[in-house]
Amino acid sequence: MKKILFVCLGNICRSPMAEAILKHKVMQRHDRHEFHIESAGTGDWHIGHAPDERTLKTLLEQNCVFEGKQAQQVQMHHFDFFDLILAMDRKNYLDLKNLSPIHQSKVHLFLDYVGHDLKEVPDPYYQDTRAFQSVYRLLDEAIEKLLGTL
Ligand code: 4NP
Repeated sequence: MKKILFVCLGNICRSPMAEAILKHKVMQRHDRHEFHIESAGTGDWHIGHAPDERTLKTLLEQNCVFEGKQAQQVQMHHFDFFDLILAMDRKNYLDLKNLSPIHQSKVHLFLDYVGHDLKEVPDPYYQDTRAFQSVYRLLDEAIEKLLGTL
């Protein structure tokens, strides 16, 4: 069982999209039972909220159904439970490392971890729908690479 937590700032745009894409891919591979996949935010503003409408719309355009997700904030117990904690940008990464310095080895900058040319998944929150589509493509590539490493 691989336990993976994706982390961004608000847990309504990037990390839930990554969670949905990875869940979708492992379902297609009939590997769902081998993974525990969640996402969380470093911030607390959106706790309990559904993903951003633009996140859900972008996922649906890709036939990726994602229902029932409610945003959560990173908790200390996550550091013990998850094997891999993958941050979307450098700020999330540094915040995670500061939250639990003893779990540094589990915490990675997602794109760096999978050897992608880019280092950060840009925050689309203040952008238009096209930014969400571009985040989707980036995450889709990175998650394919991630599956290759697991
Ligand atoms: P996310 O995007 O970190 O990818 O979920 C954001 C969502 C909300 C805010 C910022 C980024 N916010 O400022 O509320």
